[in-house]
Amino acid sequence: MGLFQGLSLLLGLLLNLVFHCNGGTTSVFVRNVEKAIDMPLDSDVFAVPSGYNAPQQVHITQGDLVGKAVIVSWVTEDEPGSNTVRYWRESSKRKKLAKGKIVTYRFFNYTSGFIHHATIRNLEYDTKYYYEVGLENTTRKFWFTTPPEIGPDVPYTFGLIGDLGQSYDSNMTLSHYELNARKGQTVLFVGDLSYADNYPNHDNVRWDTWGRFAERSVAYQPWIWTVGNHEIDFAPEIGETKPFKPFSHRYRTPYKASQSTSPFWYSIKRASAHIIVLASYSAYGKYTPQYKWLEQELPKVNRTETPWLIVLMHSPWYNSYNYHYMEGETMRVMYEPWFVKYKVDVVYAGHVHAYERSERVSNVAYNIVNGICTPIKDESAPVYITIGDGGNLEGLATNMTEPQPAYSAFREASFGHAIFDIKNRTHAHYSWHRNQDGENVEGDSLWFFNRFWHPFDDSSAHVSH
Ligand SMILES: *[C@@H]1O[C@H](CO)[C@@H](O)[C@H](O)[C@H]1NC(C)=O
Ligand SMILES: *[C@@H]1O[C@H](CO)[C@@H](O)[C@H](O)[C@H]1NC(C)=O
Ligand SMILES: *[C@@H]1O[C@H](CO)[C@@H](O)[C@H](O)[C@H]1NC(C)=O
Ligand SMILES: *[C@@H]1O[C@H](CO)[C@@H](O)[C@H](O)[C@H]1NC(C)=O
Ligand SMILES: *[C@@H]1O[C@H](CO)[C@@H](O)[C@H](O)[C@H]1NC(C)=O
Ligand SMILES: *[C@@H]1O[C@H](CO)[C@@H](O)[C@H](O)[C@H]1NC(C)=O
Ligand SMILES: [Fe+2]
Repeated sequence: MGLFQGLSLLLGLLLNLVFHCNGGTTSVFVRNVEKAIDMPLDSDVFAVPSGYNAPQQVHITQGDLVGKAVIVSWVTEDEPGSNTVRYWRESSKRKKLAKGKIVTYRFFNYTSGFIHHATIRNLEYDTKYYYEVGLENTTRKFWFTTPPEIGPDVPYTFGLIGDLGQSYDSNMTLSHYELNARKGQTVLFVGDLSYADNYPNHDNVRWDTWGRFAERSVAYQPWIWTVGNHEIDFAPEIGETKPFKPFSHRYRTPYKASQSTSPFWYSIKRASAHIIVLASYSAYGKYTPQYKWLEQELPKVNRTETPWLIVLMHSPWYNSYNYHYMEGETMRVMYEPWFVKYKVDVVYAGHVHAYERSERVSNVAYNIVNGICTPIKDESAPVYITIGDGGNLEGLATNMTEPQPAYSAFREASFGHAIFDIKNRTHAHYSWHRNQDGENVEGDSLWFFNRFWHPFDDSSAHVSH
């Protein structure tokens, strides 16, 4: 242990002494609380690639259940152009083709470019591929690496980003994620992408700028999409009454592969993880399609094959900020008993523009007469992490409920990102990185002991700050 780590441990212990009377730690980290400002339209990160009809806003996501397919999406502005992706293994010169579909949409007085989606299938595991989109003059080339074959001890590193937007802070969050030495291989994105809906008439030009901004990461590694409230784009006042219209045209998910009937809730398996994505803004009550899907999905999770069970959603269930307080409560009431029963390892959410990590708690005893409605420590329960601190223009959530509730282990109002670094079936290292520090500094961290293989370890005993 270095001197610095020693000092921070000591400081951590002192903070614990001071703040542990009620809940966990409220960080005393001091920052400038300035309003996050969107990058102007002529920013470098929004530059349109040169060349006639050049493909732009290139992004990829997993295209099947197991990680052997990739959905490639891109936009051409001038004409439809080619809807074919050419791809080849790093070690091979033989190019293969995947043909896609082109969609367009209108939103109020905005008309989209030509949005291409092509699924590349039957890829080999753990292999680097190059791919090209566009025609002759304006071909653009990218690459990705497929995940290793699914298995319980396959190490894999996920990045966590939420509520990103397109401010200078968003750019800092993305840069820090890219520079992090733990090298995230796939981003688990917990919703709220562009924040275009904060502009007059939901100016969809800001969906395009966001697509160009994020390309530098998402063209090279898959981002797994969760929808947030800023994807709803429901605006009857300007005649736009179809929820999720821009998002649905621009971003695809492999929902059919997990027998889902909607792109907004689905699951994937990747390396040693089974990831369930839920939709906070689609019906989830009893008998609804999402409810029925989740009820069937959870028993299918094979912890021998994928020991790590991760859930993504937008609106957090355990949140002690005075923003969106208890918004996740109705979904918690519906699904929390299942999360405990199936020993979900961790739930990531966004929505609140700050950072928070819970203890392993559950609150499932309540019925309408017994009065038992307090979260209690529960080793079968997930850790709940709010990572809605990507840095969008709405700024930080700084107002917290006081005193800090017992379920809250650590909270801090700073922008940042996190890394979930799976080592093997029993161990995963989690770290959160605030933007004010170097990308490798851990503002909060935790060793996760897998709930299935290590059901009785108390991971909260191993916290370090
Ligand atoms: C859409 O309408 C707004 C408000 O009337 C106007 O400022 C904007 O220039 C229009 N955009 C297009 C593409 O017509
Ligand atoms: C492609 O490039 C060639 C040579 O630079 C040029 O003559 C041609 O006009 C370009 N085509 C398009 C569609 O821009
Ligand atoms: C965004 O971040 C990148 C990488 O750090 C940097 O090159 C670029 O200049 C930044 N752009 C803005 C507008 O801050
Ligand atoms: C779970 O996965 C393991 C390892 O792949 C396999 O041997 C086993 O048959 C699976 N169990 C079920 C119920 O599918
Ligand atoms: C923080 O939130 C509480 C509850 O909504 C409110 O009463 C209080 O005025 C807020 N404090 C500040 C400084 O905004
Ligand atoms: C799993 O990873 C942890 C952390 O790297 C390590 O200490 C442990 O020995 C590993 N377990 C096995 C069975 O390899
Ligand atoms: Fe949100």
